[in-house]
Amino acid sequence: MDLSDLRQSYTKGSFSERDLLDSPFEQFEKWFREAEKCDLEEPNAMCLATADANGLPSTRVVLLKDFSEKGLTFYTNYQSRKAAQLEANPQAAANFLWLPLQRQVNVIGRVERISKAESLKYFLSRPFGSQLGAWASPQSQVITSRSILEQKLDQMKRKFAEGKVPLPDNWGGYRIVPESFEFWQGRVSRLHDRFIYKRDEAGQWVAKRLAP
Ligand SMILES: Cc1cc2nc3c(=O)[nH]c(=O)nc-3n(C[C@H](O)[C@H](O)[C@H](O)COP(=O)(O)O)c2cc1C
Repeated sequence: MDLSDLRQSYTKGSFSERDLLDSPFEQFEKWFREAEKCDLEEPNAMCLATADANGLPSTRVVLLKDFSEKGLTFYTNYQSRKAAQLEANPQAAANFLWLPLQRQVNVIGRVERISKAESLKYFLSRPFGSQLGAWASPQSQVITSRSILEQKLDQMKRKFAEGKVPLPDNWGGYRIVPESFEFWQGRVSRLHDRFIYKRDEAGQWVAKRLAP
């Protein structure tokens, strides 16, 4: 498969020093709001990279469910492959790709579990089917057939027939506490605009332009 002719010119925007907001959190929120307004499915989908204790990386998409100056929160199974990696090596990188805007954002940081109370609050806001799914799926384990999942789901439906589903012990949120944010805007001739925010010695966020 020769894909060498598959290319697009990035002409939809620019991003310069005068556009930069002081805080990367405000900058992220601004770009996120703009991504939400585009005809884009799941603007909160982020490609999450983790690595095991030997440094072997893996990626997968998860959904951003909360964003504040505390960090970026997503929910998952605490016995999944990503969770095992995060317990061994609590650092991650996340990438948001907003192609209709020809933008990406990269966030790197350390990762911590959120409190059980926060996970419970979010879990209770999920649809019944998703709550049952969290109980039914041994995420990232090898299973011999789909029917195992369907049987487990039926079992859970019966168990929680009255509609109140408790938070599974092995399910909850992680928060990425950002150490850097990079904002990327595609430009012509591959001379894209890139700015990276990191904290200086005084703890203030400082943005610097990077070569594309
Ligand atoms: C659009 C999209 C959203 C997803 N959201 C989540 C999510 O929020 N949490 C989650 O655990 N998995 C989510 N998944 C599934 C993950 O990509 C992945 O398959 C799963 O978490 C197992 O990953 P692991 O084996 O590396 O732990 C999503 C997948 C897609 C394509």
